[in-house]
Amino acid sequence: MKNMIYLDNAATTIPLPDVISAMTDTMMNVYGNPSSTYQVGRQAKKKLDESRTSLAMSIGATSDELIFTSGGTESNNFALHSLAYRDVTKKHIITSVIEHPSVLNTVEELEKKGFDVTYLPVDKSGVISIQDVKNAIRPDTSFISVMYVNNEVGTVQPIEQIAELLKDKDILLHTDAVQAYGILPIDVKKLGADMLSVSSHKVHGPRGTGFVFVKKGVRVQPLLHGGGQEQGVRSGTENVASIAGFAKAISQLHLTDKQKHIVQLQETLLSELSKTEIDYEVNGSMEETRKVPTIVNVWFKGIPASKLLIQLDLSGIMVSAGSACSAGSLKPSRILLSMFQDEKRASESLRISFSEMNTLEEIKTLVETLKKYAV
Ligand SMILES: Cc1ncc(COP(=O)(O)O)c(C=O)c1O
Repeated sequence: MKNMIYLDNAATTIPLPDVISAMTDTMMNVYGNPSSTYQVGRQAKKKLDESRTSLAMSIGATSDELIFTSGGTESNNFALHSLAYRDVTKKHIITSVIEHPSVLNTVEELEKKGFDVTYLPVDKSGVISIQDVKNAIRPDTSFISVMYVNNEVGTVQPIEQIAELLKDKDILLHTDAVQAYGILPIDVKKLGADMLSVSSHKVHGPRGTGFVFVKKGVRVQPLLHGGGQEQGVRSGTENVASIAGFAKAISQLHLTDKQKHIVQLQETLLSELSKTEIDYEVNGSMEETRKVPTIVNVWFKGIPASKLLIQLDLSGIMVSAGSACSAGSLKPSRILLSMFQDEKRASESLRISFSEMNTLEEIKTLVETLKKYAV
């Protein structure tokens, strides 16, 4: 697609050419089932093991702490299901109101099965408070699931501080790190989470693959039963080509350079916007330590997001309103509603999300186009 500007990288990213080559090569030449004992099966197992080792290293984990899944949604479902049923005498769960639907809908299901859930609120900057976490803890609290980075506003939640709070308690911690992985350096030992979810397609890998980190010693419950792959907790023949593509994507990631470039994109967007007549406000924290630079959520005052989305689309620019999961629906963003309790603001806001593939020129074109339609 020529002349298209893709600025919806929080929804998904463009697979790198080397990722596609790695996947094609694996499908053509390493086609065996990794559980088969003959040569091509052993080659597939080797590819799987190598990919697992490098992906585990990317978060400071060991290979046996990684379970491959079909992506962020399955990782979240698996983590929550495992943590909920590890001790049936503990029926209380803590999460936040701004979680991805793969967490929120799963805890809602658990509620129907008799669990009691506390939903932590967020402030206007889109961050939960540690005091609220402290206040929510009960003797029967089983686990806490709070996302590392929010997918609509990019705010960073205080995961390390929550982990610190739980140090001497029998309460486990899961974090959905889908939007954090590949932009924040992650070391699971430092972070302190017991389980952590990651998806490949947010980092230029293929869709439909991801992993869940399970800290050594944490007992998990399979969601999928079958041939006993993935240490018996996630049955199904491993998707070796996609996993190899995922590992290739991570081998191409140069975190410091990426961060520098994306900070520049963010700064350009904000400085170019400030030079215009457009009446706007950024949603969420702009503090460097509380927000990733990949996502900028902007309220264009008085302009319905649906109108801007169409105008930008006609100009070849792809951004989103709310999260991709609700694209197509004109409902105002649930996340922005939790932050501001303002329907108008929530339905007049756009999410612009960058990757290292975007250029400063593209950002300038975006602002030039907004100058025509957002006033
Ligand atoms: C924060 C967050 N969690 C989970 C997911 C789901 O990941 P996947 O699309 O791999 O199922 C997404 C994807 O949009 C996300 O942004």
